[in-house]
Amino acid sequence: MNIRLASLLLAAAGAVAAAPAAAQFAKSEDAIHYRQSAMFLQSQHFGRVAAMANGRVPFDAAAAAANAELVATISKLPWAGFAPGTEGGKAKPDIWKEQAKFKELSDKLQADTEKLAAAAKGGNLDAIKAQVAATGETCKSCHDTFRSR
Ligand code: HEC
Repeated sequence: MNIRLASLLLAAAGAVAAAPAAAQFAKSEDAIHYRQSAMFLQSQHFGRVAAMANGRVPFDAAAAAANAELVATISKLPWAGFAPGTEGGKAKPDIWKEQAKFKELSDKLQADTEKLAAAAKGGNLDAIKAQVAATGETCKSCHDTFRSR
């Protein structure tokens, strides 16, 4: 490889690394759609575990474990969709003004859902109930602060 090509490639790599996360999406509507879709999937799978914890559907340990595992994985996804310059949807502009607080809650959700997955894997319904409640509190606390109705 010649030196000019090598330095061009290096410059391109640097530009990618320095680009805001918004560059992951072609347009900001894509970022909004992405984060809303991730939130929607998260609520579907969390809802299935919560329905068992609340006694609305019979407890099925294998289904609880599978759904909780999905929630733990999906809870890693929405945040890339809140990249700089993607204000919109039902996301309050405060998200981009209080990023540390928003990140704290998104980190907390990921920790909570890891614990939920561990509890579900253990198959103990009381432990699952406790962790469903804790996780649900985190969803609510972020929505109360950062989501408009
Ligand atoms: C750190 C903050 C935060 C946490 C934690 C959080 N959410 Fe959200 N959620 C948001 C924001 C902000 C929106 C609005 C996104 C938008 O419209 O652009 C949203 C939107 C949603 C939506 C609507 C999606 C749509 O189709 O428009 C659902 C459903 C949802 N969240 C479910 C959940 C559930 C369930 C949890 C917990 C397991 C959770 N969220 C945890 C911030 C959070």
